Amino acid sequence: MANENHRFRWINFNPIAASIDDGRDVIQGLNQSQKTLPCRYLYDDRGSELFEQITDLPEYYPTRTEQAILEQYALEIAELTGVCELVELGSGSSRKTHVLLEAYSQFSDRLHYCPIDISAGILKTTALELLNRYPNLKLCGLAGTYEQALAQLPPPELENRMLIFLGSTLGNLNDKECNKFLTQIQQALQPGEFFLLGVDLQKPIQTIEAAYNDAQGITAEFNLNILRHLNHRFDGDFDIDLFEHFAFYNQEQHQIEMHLRSLVTQTVFLKALNYRFIINAGETIHTEISRKFDLSKLVDNLASHAFKPLQIRTDPQDWFGLILCQCQCAGDDCP
Ligand code: AVJ
Repeated sequence: MANENHRFRWINFNPIAASIDDGRDVIQGLNQSQKTLPCRYLYDDRGSELFEQITDLPEYYPTRTEQAILEQYALEIAELTGVCELVELGSGSSRKTHVLLEAYSQFSDRLHYCPIDISAGILKTTALELLNRYPNLKLCGLAGTYEQALAQLPPPELENRMLIFLGSTLGNLNDKECNKFLTQIQQALQPGEFFLLGVDLQKPIQTIEAAYNDAQGITAEFNLNILRHLNHRFDGDFDIDLFEHFAFYNQEQHQIEMHLRSLVTQTVFLKALNYRFIINAGETIHTEISRKFDLSKLVDNLASHAFKPLQIRTDPQDWFGLILCQCQCAGDDCP
């Protein structure tokens, strides 16, 4: 791809060297009475690959439901926003992004895409695929955390910009984190810029629980992979076979909780952190929440962050929501 370099830029915030990965967050989480791990550790290259497999599972409805909404409304979105640079948080395989790129290429031959992902491996693969497929596409990949990327977004190269956050990844943040995150987005965007958000909605508990307890056990593997990742990153001795996947819907909090339950009482040592802990038989490590939203409450919350909703769409069953909004004021001038 050497002759294509003018179409491809790459910024690596080097998450491995960054302070988040010095393991303090791991120790802090494991020291709590409910042991917890930051869910970002689910996504090493293997974790991202397993998540891709999850999105194809018959039980995992969110991805295909969101994809269908996007397919139906992508042209409408492109028409509403006009030419703009697409910046995607947690782009993963960018499968859904194709739908948007196709739509935008109907209106203009200037395509600009900026995928942001914590997993550099999947980011590079995706970038090459997209550059091959769209000859007019310019791409700037950002490898790092959302916080790092949002704080240092390169200036847009097209007249407008749309930040895209799909897959209900917002649901992996608790209320406080969610508000902090929306503030970061508000500060990263200029007035008039767009924000496209996809979120999973409340629905019968059986449907939700099945999506996180698939028959093939891929979600279990995805969950257990967090321990493999920690072993690798911090020279740990987690015995994967001595933990089991456990996921349930918390009806009061409207969220799936994913845990790893220890099958025996055992000691775990993370050599690189010089950190040792005991976990009892039956005790769990909480690895992820996945909140299921009330669409109108979420829209109110977006409005309180100066995001004006332009278009709110769902699938026929109201299982998933796609919200296009526009930033009303610059971060610094906001109330
Ligand atoms: C990262 C939000 C898309 O919470 O549904 C899938 C991650 N965890 N199965 C979600 C996940 C278990 C997923 N998202």
